[in-house]
Amino acid sequence: MMRQLGWFGSTGKRLGVGQLQVLTRMTKRMAGPITIHDYMKEVLINPISGYYSTGKDMFGAQGDYITSPEISPMFGEMVAIWIMSEWYKLGSPRPLQLVEFGPGRGTLMHDVLVVLKRFGLHGDDLSVQLIEVSEELSVKQKNKLCDGVSSNEEQSEDELYYKASTTSTGSPVFWYRHLSLVPKTFTVYLAHEFFDVLPIHKLHKTKDGWREILIDMDEGNGPHHLRYVLSNNPTPATKIFTEGEDTRECIEVSPDAAVLCKELATRIEEDGGIALIIDYGHNGVDTDTFRAFKNHKQHDPLCEPGTADLTADVDFDFLKKQVKEKLVTFGPVTQSSFLINMGMETRLHNLLKQCKPEEKKNLISGFRMLTEPKQMGEKFKFLAFYPAVVKDFLLKFPPAGFIRNTD
Ligand SMILES: C[S@@+](CC[C@H](N)C(=O)[O-])C[C@H]1O[C@@H](n2cnc3c(N)ncnc32)[C@H](O)[C@@H]1O
Repeated sequence: MMRQLGWFGSTGKRLGVGQLQVLTRMTKRMAGPITIHDYMKEVLINPISGYYSTGKDMFGAQGDYITSPEISPMFGEMVAIWIMSEWYKLGSPRPLQLVEFGPGRGTLMHDVLVVLKRFGLHGDDLSVQLIEVSEELSVKQKNKLCDGVSSNEEQSEDELYYKASTTSTGSPVFWYRHLSLVPKTFTVYLAHEFFDVLPIHKLHKTKDGWREILIDMDEGNGPHHLRYVLSNNPTPATKIFTEGEDTRECIEVSPDAAVLCKELATRIEEDGGIALIIDYGHNGVDTDTFRAFKNHKQHDPLCEPGTADLTADVDFDFLKKQVKEKLVTFGPVTQSSFLINMGMETRLHNLLKQCKPEEKKNLISGFRMLTEPKQMGEKFKFLAFYPAVVKDFLLKFPPAGFIRNTD
């Protein structure tokens, strides 16, 4: 087993060139290269210097990327209609617990809560649980969701959640660092652009068998002080994740995604609930998708770690495999197909009839960006999890937005 060393040292500050040089020498003597998994974890969620901890606003025109909920409230409205429809179908248990993983600015949850309130679901009939590792983003989420509501912002006595408040629609809202801390009850789980930031291992097929791509200090003339190397021998990840036939030369696997899906499967089977996973990804066919984004452009993941988002396309086939014994899955279907099936075109036409002339252009461009195949319509996909016990029922009454696309 290789010894592993984070790149940020115990102070948590981003390393300067001098520190990097010292670390290079130390690394050579004491440790070795680290996995892409450990690199992603350190670069993204180190509590002091990680990309998501720096207080930077990464969303929108001034940031690094834009996500669907930030493009148009119609996106969150369609997700809310899906929640209402499926919750009714499953007997509308109250109070309904909503869990969102990695809520970013809180925009999706905000837009969902506005619609649920219109359908009479608000106040104590609802509780909102947010899984957010970044305290900086949790402040933005609270501002968005609890606007004008005086908060009881304190930690729980048992330290399960790290912040609590009340949403402007009157429901209790809590912030957690991990799903295992959230109450076990019937829940609607949402994950929008969350799975793509979970760390991956990158494995490569060689003539000697599977090897892992690692990140090492670059003492040569490389531009970033870091470089990719191939492990000399099989690693724990190559041993665990390369069972069975895979025709691909290179695969990316996320053990964190596997663990989370298994936890979701157990909770949904034992306590009831449904999950909607929305992300960019593929069905177990793509190979080389690890990349970084900065200022709306693709960026070298090894350059200036901590200043750019790191991501890899989600392998939806892999997620489905993790839950297949306990759950029934629907999708993935394309974002375009889900949103159109949920009635987004009708919603657009209604809004266009009511809106001010100057708002028309934005509404139409938002709709196009979310649904057109060449924009976000095809690359982004929706996958839903349901308890296996409702499989026959769902074959007769398929989930809204999915149209008989089940496994
Ligand atoms: C790409 S952003 C997506 C934000 C939002 N869902 C959206 O689509 O606009 C990823 C979010 O997940 C959070 N996050 C990343 N890794 C996490 C982890 N391991 N546990 C909990 N939250 C995490 C980030 O802080 C951020 O809120």
